[in-house]
Amino acid sequence: MKEYQNVTIFDHPLIRHKVAILRDKATGMKEFRELVEEITTLMVYEAFKDVPTKKVIVETPLEKTEQTMVADNAVTIIPILRAGLGMVNGVHTLFPTARVGHIGLYRDEETLEPHEYYCKLPEGIENSIAILLDPMLATGGSAIGAIDLLKKRGCKEIRLMNIIGVPQGVEAVANAHPDVKIYVSTLDRQLNEVGYILPGLGDAGDRLFGTK
Ligand code: PRP
Ligand code: URA
Repeated sequence: MKEYQNVTIFDHPLIRHKVAILRDKATGMKEFRELVEEITTLMVYEAFKDVPTKKVIVETPLEKTEQTMVADNAVTIIPILRAGLGMVNGVHTLFPTARVGHIGLYRDEETLEPHEYYCKLPEGIENSIAILLDPMLATGGSAIGAIDLLKKRGCKEIRLMNIIGVPQGVEAVANAHPDVKIYVSTLDRQLNEVGYILPGLGDAGDRLFGTK
């Protein structure tokens, strides 16, 4: 895949280990959900070294000291429904007070085009870094649609987090929205003829919620 300035592919053995278990068709719903959260936390930890901070005064048992904390409203979490919901707790582990907006999109099984069915975003999102969550980046259509919506709502900084992507999807998003930072834990080979990622992990929403 071509190099993009704003694309980060994590190549970390601890993430690779968890993704290997995630892919396994024998991995059940509970473990799948836990792994999605854990991988998300690892990704966010790496991707937010530059999170906005504020200075605070803390009184230890011995003296007052100036310390650094995460700025208020630094980030807003935006899962793409459904499967993005599985990543929310993984972000809340590190940003426990972050507000959550929801974007509902589903892919038409024939055309693979995304269709919006829900959008509810918190006020003040335009002054916050939007963390857009979806475990799977396939054609990129859903991510591009969600980013379009966030930009219409005034979001200036958007970071997309995907657990598995393919070059086609990464390139589509990077070309459509070159300003958006894209973080993919693992880059897979390709899409199959019906738009599923190979080797992939199957349908992320179904595996998270037990719908199949
Ligand atoms: C899946 C996945 C992404 C989308 C990726 O969702 O969670 O949102 O497909 O495909 P794309 O990059 O080609 O757009 P799906 O539409 O199956 O909905 P679900 O999360 O409700 O299962
Ligand atoms: N959505 C999924 O859940 N899995 C894929 O492989 C592609 C899109």
